[in-house]
Amino acid sequence: MKKIGVVGTGKTVGIADDHLNGIQANKKEWILEAIYDLNIENAQEFVERNELNQNIICSTLDDLFSKVDAIAICTNNSSHREIAEYAINRSIPVICEKPLSDTYKEAEMLALKANESNIPNYMGMQYRYHGYAQVIKEILNSKKLGEITFYRHNLGGSRLGNSNIELEWRMKKETSGLGSIADFGIHQLDLIDFFLNDIAGDISEITAQTGTYIKNRTSPAWADDGKVTNDDVGILYGKLENGALFNLCNSRIFPSDGHCLEIIGLKAAIYMDNNHNIFIREKDKDGNWNNYREQKREEDKHSFLGGARGKQYKEFYDIINNDVSYELNFKYGAEKLGLIEKAVKNFNHCI
Ligand SMILES: NC(=O)c1ccc[n+]([C@@H]2O[C@H](COP(=O)([O-])OP(=O)(O)OC[C@H]3O[C@@H](n4cnc5c(N)ncnc54)[C@H](O)[C@@H]3O)[C@@H](O)[C@H]2O)c1
Repeated sequence: MKKIGVVGTGKTVGIADDHLNGIQANKKEWILEAIYDLNIENAQEFVERNELNQNIICSTLDDLFSKVDAIAICTNNSSHREIAEYAINRSIPVICEKPLSDTYKEAEMLALKANESNIPNYMGMQYRYHGYAQVIKEILNSKKLGEITFYRHNLGGSRLGNSNIELEWRMKKETSGLGSIADFGIHQLDLIDFFLNDIAGDISEITAQTGTYIKNRTSPAWADDGKVTNDDVGILYGKLENGALFNLCNSRIFPSDGHCLEIIGLKAAIYMDNNHNIFIREKDKDGNWNNYREQKREEDKHSFLGGARGKQYKEFYDIINNDVSYELNFKYGAEKLGLIEKAVKNFNHCI
């Protein structure tokens, strides 16, 4: 069993709770040994709401590092690089939340360092391990769709649609980098890669549009003002190597009714609605789209112990112990952020 330390225990979304679920689902592999948060109240609240032992709270990052075999970084984006480098310099394996950093430049430097060090470096990009993603991948593997022509994915979070929520670190370029387009776009780029890379190739062209629609919020004590300085809606679109078009819409302020995923091939099409109901529509013997669409349901084989995060912690353990190869490394995380930055900087131009 390995001891893990969580850095950043959560205040707004609190993704650290999700990591805790992943850790606790792998009882034979992991034990949560230590936590550290810049704000000790957040660490105390984490302990209380999850009914953990107060003794795991560390007063410094060094204290945490002295107690663990690996760390999970669940802090805001601009602090990832420093904490991850700290871990790599001490030969401590690290799982880091996405995006890897607030800028591609920083992420790329960190990924290079991690790669050279050979210390396990793993991205907390869990979407491909959701049951629905496994169902879709299985359909794609069956080659039923034929040549892929189109991919559309709408994703986001509705929590921040409430403009009464005060300014958060994720709404400032300085503490987050890009907004919605990186926050959700990273998961969207990961999923399109997972689903289509082997059958439709890499992204060959990409461009973007962004907008900020809730421009001012109540200013918290840590900020100079309540001005939102990054996007709350984004669109990434372009082409895959085989010529298929893609369109990834994301937002942190819209209701979730429009969340959906669509993959169209010349022979069949997949559609997933906002409740993760998945349908496949094929063509009839005359070549017309069938009136009937079949629903594909998740089965036991599509889910993992502890869900998507449980699977991530199992994989992270196996990487450390069994030296298995893995795709979700820092290099992969940095590349996805690089694509988004490039698309935003060069919007209306192709790469
Ligand atoms: N994979 C996903 O689905 C997913 C979902 C939400 C958030 N995230 C990512 O998780 C990370 C955290 O997001 P969140 O919404 O949980 O944030 P949050 O605001 O809820 O929590 C961040 C915590 O980190 C602490 N912190 C900040 N800087 C620190 C530092 N240098 N050292 C120690 N503690 C520090 C804060 O005090 C806070 O408690 C972000 O990178 C975010 O993009 C990922």
